[in-house]
Amino acid sequence: MKDVLKIAVLASGSGTNLQALLDRFNGVPDSSARVSRVIASRAGIGALARAEVAGVPGAVLPAGDAGTGLQAALFAELDVAEADLVVLAGFLKLIPVPVVSAYRGRMINIHPALLPAFGGPGMFGRHVHEAVLRSGARVTGVTVHFVDEEYDHGAIIAQWPVPVLSGDDAERLAARVLEVEHRVLPAVVLGFAEGAFELDPIGDCRWRDRWFAGNTFNMESEV
Ligand code: GRF
Repeated sequence: MKDVLKIAVLASGSGTNLQALLDRFNGVPDSSARVSRVIASRAGIGALARAEVAGVPGAVLPAGDAGTGLQAALFAELDVAEADLVVLAGFLKLIPVPVVSAYRGRMINIHPALLPAFGGPGMFGRHVHEAVLRSGARVTGVTVHFVDEEYDHGAIIAQWPVPVLSGDDAERLAARVLEVEHRVLPAVVLGFAEGAFELDPIGDCRWRDRWFAGNTFNMESEV
């Protein structure tokens, strides 16, 4: 029997993307993957409550940024999780370089815009959607990418567009994008579990032919 892919989810917020993964993989018979640990940047966040409800162990990282114990704590927590894949789902801290190196090709992030636009330092939460609205762009979307040493910068794995509609404010746009995130992220994780894509030696994402086209999700209700 194939081993179940163990996923560690890193989160800083409400954890709706975590929930999408829990719903898709945990407690599902014959699932090829499961969330094995939720690692939070601070106590009391929604993601930890969702983990508890799902019976998944949770942990809280020490306060502060790289160099203040974050690196050691992350390595320790990812070890406990026996993580085959690390998913950043609304995680606001920069991952320390040695952790990025150790998990290169096995660490992914979801971003609520079409990178490389509207990403980078400061582009999180409503700031992303406000910037999209300010720009006048009529299309935004969802990006899942491998994590590298910079915010929102590693090789792009998958993207899906979302329209910007007249009368949108940041909340309305965020909600429309978030709904698509909840479909794209489990699809990408399933692809990883099935070996459908990988980070190649030159740093690009290489997909097995047409896997994404044949295995995605029904987006018809979105537009
Ligand atoms: C999502 O929009 C995600 O793309 C971004 O942070 C948000 C997290 O939302 N990186 P949630 O905690 O999963 O609800």
